[in-house]
Amino acid sequence: MIRQQANHELKHNIIHYETTGSTNDDAKRLAREGADDGTVVMADAQSAGKGRRGRVWQSPAGSNLYFSLVLKPEFAPDKASMLTLVMALSVVQAIGKITGGALELLIKWPNDIVANGRKLCGILTEMNLDRDSIESVVIGVGINVNQEYFDSELAEFATSLLVEKRRANDRIIIPERIELLETILDFFDSNYKLFCKNLNLEFMKADYERCLANMNNRVKVLESTGEYEGEALGINERGELLVMTHGGSVKEIYAGEVSVRGIYGYV
Ligand code: BTN
Repeated sequence: MIRQQANHELKHNIIHYETTGSTNDDAKRLAREGADDGTVVMADAQSAGKGRRGRVWQSPAGSNLYFSLVLKPEFAPDKASMLTLVMALSVVQAIGKITGGALELLIKWPNDIVANGRKLCGILTEMNLDRDSIESVVIGVGINVNQEYFDSELAEFATSLLVEKRRANDRIIIPERIELLETILDFFDSNYKLFCKNLNLEFMKADYERCLANMNNRVKVLESTGEYEGEALGINERGELLVMTHGGSVKEIYAGEVSVRGIYGYV
């Protein structure tokens, strides 16, 4: 399906698989083989869905949205990690629009989307380099849409639009997955345009912080050298999380695992 939008620079050629290993792997392969900027790979099921930090992303058939967007930007590789935050905000905006704001969504920095303290959506961004420049960036998004039950190890931590709809006495509208995808791409396109113009996140910082679960909250930062607690103050224009430590200094967290009090069992 070719989806060309007026005034949008990305042309979304959507490639749909019934089942695949991982849409991120497909998207990276297609990008290497010459797929255009804006190509989207989506699947009904993934047999080897990948999460961050080498985790598995459970991807049962027919119930959720799994897609990966290929980008071929001209900017420097060190800017690419910000795209994950651009996508996270775009997903929140799209679900907010479709559900008429009936569901409160928060972002757990940098990119988990959380409803009622449980994970609704995960994002995995991967980059292929050609020497010092970007050959492609692939942004993979998994959203739990109609999944009713989760395996025991996830049950406490995951949710879906369907679970949240039931919790809200059916006040939430669940979109067709293709409608959800198209709405996300619309928001992403306009955010991406602004991002490409500025190459920083100043344009969306306030919107992002409005739904930042970490905001003014106690967080635990896990680094390879150890862990410490502090209070999250927001993000800077590079998308780094600002954390005030107990000693009063402000650290800029570029990457890493940050637990937020009240989410996924951290108290
Ligand atoms: C996370 O750990 O939170 C990231 C999960 C990303 C899952 C999506 S599903 C579509 C795409 N294909 C994959 O293999 N992973 C991403």
